[in-house]
Amino acid sequence: MKKIRWGIVGGGEGSQIGFAHRAGVAVEEKYDFVASALDIDPAKAKEFGIRLGVSPDRAYGNWQEMLQSERARPDRIELVTVATPNDTHFEICKSFMEAGIDVFCEKPLTINVEEARELVKLGKKLGRVCAVNFGYTGYPMIRQMREMVLRGDLGKTRVVFTQFAGGFMAESNWQDDPRIGWRFDPKKAGVSAVTLDLGSHAMHLACFVTGQKVKRVSSDFAVGVAGRELEDDSLTAFRLQDGTIGRQWVSGLAYGRIHGLSIQIFGELGGLRWQQEQPNQLYWTKGKEATKILERGAPYLYDEANRAGRVTIGHPEGMPLAFSTLYKDLAEVINCRKEGKTPDQSALTYPSFEDGLHMVEVVFSQVDSSRKGGQWTEVPDWDN
Ligand SMILES: NC(=O)c1ccc[n+]([C@@H]2O[C@H](COP(=O)([O-])OP(=O)(O)OC[C@H]3O[C@@H](n4cnc5c(N)ncnc54)[C@H](O)[C@@H]3O)[C@@H](O)[C@H]2O)c1
Repeated sequence: MKKIRWGIVGGGEGSQIGFAHRAGVAVEEKYDFVASALDIDPAKAKEFGIRLGVSPDRAYGNWQEMLQSERARPDRIELVTVATPNDTHFEICKSFMEAGIDVFCEKPLTINVEEARELVKLGKKLGRVCAVNFGYTGYPMIRQMREMVLRGDLGKTRVVFTQFAGGFMAESNWQDDPRIGWRFDPKKAGVSAVTLDLGSHAMHLACFVTGQKVKRVSSDFAVGVAGRELEDDSLTAFRLQDGTIGRQWVSGLAYGRIHGLSIQIFGELGGLRWQQEQPNQLYWTKGKEATKILERGAPYLYDEANRAGRVTIGHPEGMPLAFSTLYKDLAEVINCRKEGKTPDQSALTYPSFEDGLHMVEVVFSQVDSSRKGGQWTEVPDWDN
């Protein structure tokens, strides 16, 4: 099977997320990196693309040029990753989808509900593979957690508790930091700062491991650092479709918690907990028995977890390799479509545009609830 021709928009030198995508793709070994528009600065975009090994005629200065040129080539890219700031996702995704190219978009899918709905509709109409990078779903132990929940190891789930609270945005001189400043500007970030940017990862994990959607929310958004127009801390009570009780804390103010992403889930038979800074261990407590630490790569894990792992047990596997699990899923789906085969069911768990839309809907409902003093607010279940 020939490799999939891959390109990326954004994720330039020094960006937060570009390296993890390039590393994720390289690890997967099913892609050729053939085209790029890596930076908002055309000269840097071109120069960095060439330095990464993209041929000079396909290391483009901007995404519009990339789109035009790729569309006309018989060997055009098959999958594009969009790793630009949030307010550009809609236009870039839509344009590449219309050119017949599958899309892997960074989260959040868009900064408003209408555009996210339009992308979902378009993806269905065109039959495109459309994924959103809720990349933490690619960790083997998150896949294990999902399997344990869905197979009933915990019995009926009662409570899911997610946190994405770190000290990333705790500095009082935040306006001087170009990587932080825009996140609190409603024109660039939309209606929410940390809840959309970070919280949607945590909330999506709650949905991913339970296979459920969020039904309603009651939120309290707050500003801890003076001068910010959008929240830097939020607390949300929520309910999943099956009645599971949900709790979510999101913050940029939690000095000392480093990345601060974790999820715990408790059912009638036991509980599981996982934190992203030790991603290779999953803590499992059955009833009142002693807690077991499940290790990534161990033979007792479900196949879905071991399918996502690559490195021998005991060697840490980190975030870029979690991204590569999603690239593995997408390669399986794209290649099966080419060959008229049915993809492995585990590959179909990658976060889709529908998941991206649901998270935008959840955040807008959280904003709405907070503005109404925490009033319980239904999350629209949009089905086009
Ligand atoms: N999935 C994750 O875990 C995760 C983590 C961090 C960021 N992100 C998401 O990734 C995206 C990028 O965030 P970041 O933190 O890397 O931002 P960043 O500001 O560090 O980097 C953005 C990059 O995109 C380039 N860029 C900007 N506009 C562009 C355009 N129109 N065309 C081409 N390139 C352009 C910039 O030059 C820069 O190289 C955001 O949507 C963010 O939410 C996701």
